[in-house]
Amino acid sequence: MRMVDLINKKKQGGELTQAEINFIVEGYTSGEIPDYQMSAFLMAIYFKGMNKKETANLTLTIINSGDQVDLSEIKGIKVDKHSTGGVGDKVSLIVIPLVASVGIPVAKMSGKGLGHTGGTIDKLEAIEGFKTNFSRDEFIHNVNTYKMAIAGQSANLTPADKKIYALRDVTATVDSVPLIAASVMSKKIASGADAIVLDVKVGSGAFMKSLAEARELAQTMVEIGKSLNRKTIAVITDMSQPLGHEVGNANEVREALEVLQGRGAKDLTTVALTIASYMAVLGEAYTDFHNAYKGLQKIIHSGQVVNTFKQLIKIQGGNPEVIDNPGKLPQAKYHVEVKASQEGYVTAINAEAIGVSAMLLGAGRKKKDDLIDYSAGLTMVKKVGDKVNAGDTICLLHTNLEEYNEAENMVRSAYSFCDTEPKPINYIYEVIQ
Ligand code: URA
Repeated sequence: MRMVDLINKKKQGGELTQAEINFIVEGYTSGEIPDYQMSAFLMAIYFKGMNKKETANLTLTIINSGDQVDLSEIKGIKVDKHSTGGVGDKVSLIVIPLVASVGIPVAKMSGKGLGHTGGTIDKLEAIEGFKTNFSRDEFIHNVNTYKMAIAGQSANLTPADKKIYALRDVTATVDSVPLIAASVMSKKIASGADAIVLDVKVGSGAFMKSLAEARELAQTMVEIGKSLNRKTIAVITDMSQPLGHEVGNANEVREALEVLQGRGAKDLTTVALTIASYMAVLGEAYTDFHNAYKGLQKIIHSGQVVNTFKQLIKIQGGNPEVIDNPGKLPQAKYHVEVKASQEGYVTAINAEAIGVSAMLLGAGRKKKDDLIDYSAGLTMVKKVGDKVNAGDTICLLHTNLEEYNEAENMVRSAYSFCDTEPKPINYIYEVIQ
């Protein structure tokens, strides 16, 4: 087999066999196929796509490129969730204790953030002492004992995805449905999940900018799950503005806690309860979505899940005092008010621009080894639909940097206004099962 012939086959829209996909993925991972040929191949996929069979085969080949985590010692149905990435997306922080509180084992393996979307581990590491580098035995012990644990992905999980993703990132081939679907599903399946709930984001802060694209991605991932015997549900949720009011690691921990205390922002609470409810149904704690949603709402209002979150922090070595005293979370030195230059209703907030601003303030990484400032971030004081007068504060920047003009300007231009009240935004668009 020659790589040039396979690039040409895909360029003409041909269907690749399992053997051809193996040849390409294995050859690239081992270094035999160079970046320039793989780049051309990825671009051919970007334009010509892959059918269901090819996408499922690509997923399998990526899974087989590294270790698979064996969670069979954990009792019960292991349900995992994955978000395709958004700004202010702290849903995992909420659903881990919430789903664990109904007895479903949550064995969460997460990555670190890069670029404008943050990672769950970065957020939790804003809590003093919080660690995720547990041995496999400790991790399994914690899930069996407390029904929850979180760990970083093992170094040898889906190495093919790590290498291909890094190349996609610099060749403008990230936003391809088969490539995203195979990347996400390979990681979830290699991590040992029995059932998976996918939060597919759509809008200005997401890879998928239109509902049609998000639907195609959601359907493709659900099909892959089905073909590999994992119960999979995809929920398409809004990312046309940041989720909730807080962006940045410590800020997002604080806001997740507010949701668990029953006083969270409506959009964030609705999305988190929806994802948690589908996880609870797949884990067989409830028979249907509506009962699960009502049951989990009740648990939040009873106050008991705050203690479960406290327990999670303790298990992971973090300082649980942040629950009773969120002032113990890292605090930035400067808090800068961004003011509206005109009167009107907020009609849109470019979520990606807000994510990039948070990164410029120190909350995210430009390169994979950058250090992050846990206290940096933004508070979206005004969101879509809010009425503002000229001079009102629309957003607060939190930073330790003296130079924040670029972020401030970016935030100002991320907001759009008009004279008439916009239609309310849907938080959940569709559910694909
Ligand atoms: N998240 C992933 O894990 N992979 C992608 O390709 C895109 C988003």
